[in-house]
Amino acid sequence: MLKAIILIGGPQKGTRFRPLSFEVPKPLFPVAGVPMLQHHIEACAQVPDMKEIILIGFYQPNDELNRFISSAQQELKIPIRYLQEFAALGTGGGIYHFRDQILSGGPAAFFLMNADVCSEFPLQEMLRFHRQHGENHCGVLLGTTANRTQSLNYGCIVENHETNEVLHFVEKPSTFVSDIINCGIYLFTPDIFGHIGTPSPDMEELTNGKQMHEVIRLEQDIFTTLAGQKKLLVYKTQHFWSQIKSAGSAIYASRLYLKQYHQTHPERLATNQDGTPKIIGDVYIHPTANIDPSAVLGPNVSVGKGVTIGGGVRVRESIILHGAMLQDHCCVLNSIVGWDSTVGKWARVEGTPTAITPVFSVTWSFRNHSYMLFWCSRNIF
Ligand code: GTP
Repeated sequence: MLKAIILIGGPQKGTRFRPLSFEVPKPLFPVAGVPMLQHHIEACAQVPDMKEIILIGFYQPNDELNRFISSAQQELKIPIRYLQEFAALGTGGGIYHFRDQILSGGPAAFFLMNADVCSEFPLQEMLRFHRQHGENHCGVLLGTTANRTQSLNYGCIVENHETNEVLHFVEKPSTFVSDIINCGIYLFTPDIFGHIGTPSPDMEELTNGKQMHEVIRLEQDIFTTLAGQKKLLVYKTQHFWSQIKSAGSAIYASRLYLKQYHQTHPERLATNQDGTPKIIGDVYIHPTANIDPSAVLGPNVSVGKGVTIGGGVRVRESIILHGAMLQDHCCVLNSIVGWDSTVGKWARVEGTPTAITPVFSVTWSFRNHSYMLFWCSRNIF
């Protein structure tokens, strides 16, 4: 049997996602109409023999998280549990701390995923790759290719092209190392814990040999040491992948998931019908949203619960969060409109398509005829 673990972080994480992550735990932020985490969970639930999904983080258990877990369990018919770390233990420390719970029932292997990635989650392909490559390794890292400049922002992997073994792993290198980057999605056998438990010489030095509280960074502390020891393999995906770090990257991720819905959830995509707004490209509309038929939405628009959209409104490349109101003839482009915000009549709210912060407003209001253009100089993609 198999299990899946999702690292959801905690309140001090996701700083680049503020102010949106002040209102809702970042893993529950809606991307393409459903909480970011739901995409991971739906992919896990498709894997045969998947017995349990464990969320590990340092959020205090809260109503929102509990509601999400119980509705996802019911809908997808798979047990889901939340295990809370007493402090941020790092990307390797949490799984090590809860290793007994992860290994209970004797899983042959388990997936580990960062919550803030957007992916097609080729889990079954990773599993096949793992099985084809024999017994010796204890982990498969999902990798994708990036250009030379982008690669510096990620964990970079050098592989043996014939065997797919990881020869070197460098987290966010300062000069070019490899165009294969770490996707934050892994498949491990229980043997990985034997390597997480033994501190590397670097870690001993950092902690003066003392048994400090166990912050373990999977990438820097474990992968870097295991690389070159035939213990890690890389499986390269051609499918879509991106990180969700900033608000702008959530819009990009929404676009990717909306496109994927054509195969996985066509019922989530709005269609053009008499008496409904004009839909261009991929659009998600929550069934409780109230939209004037003269509005034009899309491409890449997600409209949340209880949103009201007036006549003549134009929305493109945007996420409209629940309770927001877009008054008549306003125009919203490349933006996220915060929960319960109002955009006044004829107002224009516009972010730049390739930049980092098309944001604005958690419960701000734009008055009638206002014009806001958001810009930023850093490219996110
Ligand atoms: P930054 O560039 O600093 O954001 O680093 P990163 O992009 O490599 O991300 P980071 O390693 O901080 O986090 C990767 C994933 O692991 C995210 O989904 C985090 O929420 C999660 N994560 C990070 N640290 C912890 C931790 O201490 N505990 C848990 N449970 N999850 C964590």
